[in-house]
Amino acid sequence: MSDVKLFSGESLPLEMHKARIVQKINLKPVDRRLEAIKEAGFNTFLLKTDDVFLDMLTDSGVNAMSDKQQAAMLQADDSYAGSATFTKLENKVQEIFGSTYFLPAHQGRACENIISKAFVQENTYVPMNYHFTTTKTHIEINGGKVEELYLDEAMEIKSSHPFKGNLDIDKLRTFIEEKGVENISFVRLEAGTNLIGGQPHSLENLQEVRKVCDEYGLMLVYDASLLADNLHFIKTREEKCQDMSIREISKTVADLTDIFYFSARKLGCARGGGICTNNAELYAKMRELVPLYEGFLTYGGMSVREMEAMVVGLDETMDEDMINQGPKFIEYMVSELEKRGVPVVTPAGGLGCHVNAMEFVDHIPQTEYPSGALAAAYYIISGVRGMERGTLSENRDEDGNETLSNMELLRLAMPRRVYSLSHVEYAVDRITWLYENRELIGGLRFVDEPKVMRFFIGKLEATSDWPEKLVKKFKEDLETLNKEEELVLN
Ligand SMILES: Cc1ncc(COP(=O)(O)O)c(C=O)c1O
Repeated sequence: MSDVKLFSGESLPLEMHKARIVQKINLKPVDRRLEAIKEAGFNTFLLKTDDVFLDMLTDSGVNAMSDKQQAAMLQADDSYAGSATFTKLENKVQEIFGSTYFLPAHQGRACENIISKAFVQENTYVPMNYHFTTTKTHIEINGGKVEELYLDEAMEIKSSHPFKGNLDIDKLRTFIEEKGVENISFVRLEAGTNLIGGQPHSLENLQEVRKVCDEYGLMLVYDASLLADNLHFIKTREEKCQDMSIREISKTVADLTDIFYFSARKLGCARGGGICTNNAELYAKMRELVPLYEGFLTYGGMSVREMEAMVVGLDETMDEDMINQGPKFIEYMVSELEKRGVPVVTPAGGLGCHVNAMEFVDHIPQTEYPSGALAAAYYIISGVRGMERGTLSENRDEDGNETLSNMELLRLAMPRRVYSLSHVEYAVDRITWLYENRELIGGLRFVDEPKVMRFFIGKLEATSDWPEKLVKKFKEDLETLNKEEELVLN
């Protein structure tokens, strides 16, 4: 992706690829969309894609593959043990990240299961820059506690801090001193912090975290699922890294960690995951869990075809023109929304455009799930499916009380190389209309609430007839618009 300067003076993010296979999508009428969201219990995870126009739920496993990835999938070696495809993958991981040992797993959370089972001790802490939903749950079910030590700027929706995903080093030192090193299982750093707007950490911050871990003899576990975006931001925002290649940055990042794991649904544009380490002892502790939970050591629950795609996908991730596509589209969307006064997280991060529901629908209390309500309302009026990232994504505490999230975000993910700028323009237009009519959006309450990870499968209902009122206003405004258009045409 490169930015091209237009003669109007504006710059345009220009795709460095062309589409040769396309998939038809539907834009169902608003009445059907209202019905569909009710059937889905106001949970965008439970919508059927047939009812979805732009699927901005996630970029996980839905990025467009390249022609080279598709071609590689045809050459897979389908063997249970000793597959040549696995050897290729192991070699690629070693070439890029320099890791001696590689354990395959079927996706990112499976890596978390293995790491947590092997290393989380009962009643200990895992300090980190920010949690991810599955990470936190795995740590907690193994008896650990998550402690988030983020920068103060991380919670500022509008900021110019280039690395809001940094772990606060002073807070880390104080925390270790207070709790005692023996009460800490390991330190975790997440690339591209998923839940706080896809905000990156700097290479310098990772180096400082490493230094602290070395001082106290603590293990550093690195979640590289969102590394691709983070690499782009290190290269473009961190002055001393501007002359480093993406490969050099990747290798430097991996070298600073004890365990490095990733979801290949994100990093590598395929479907799978893996754990890398250079430490034989750590490898031995995790190794036996792989055949038990995932599959034999040479496939780990992944299809060999996906592993072939991963080999190529990881290689392509080392190309700056490939990994900047997501961040550049997101930056474009964020700046268009800012121009229209819609509250969004800045600076633009990776993963997607993050709309600040706390401000967008500030009349909805957190206990009525403002970001969930906003996600449902946006789907109804646009057919665009986003994801709630707020209180609904938290589990209740031991006493059954809500854990109010630090942020209430509607995430509009940007699957790589999937949507065009006209899709983005449509998404911007509809969310702008919704912002102008935001007082019509109301809250949600659970009708079926699972104990953990309730955002995936829980069902809710509207606290009033606000969805009907929203649809009525939307139709009236569209009708007026169409009438005005006819006048112009006539
Ligand atoms: C930062 C982070 N860690 C872990 C995961 C879990 O990966 P997976 O969805 O492949 O299980 C994700 C997925 O979105 C993620 O963003």
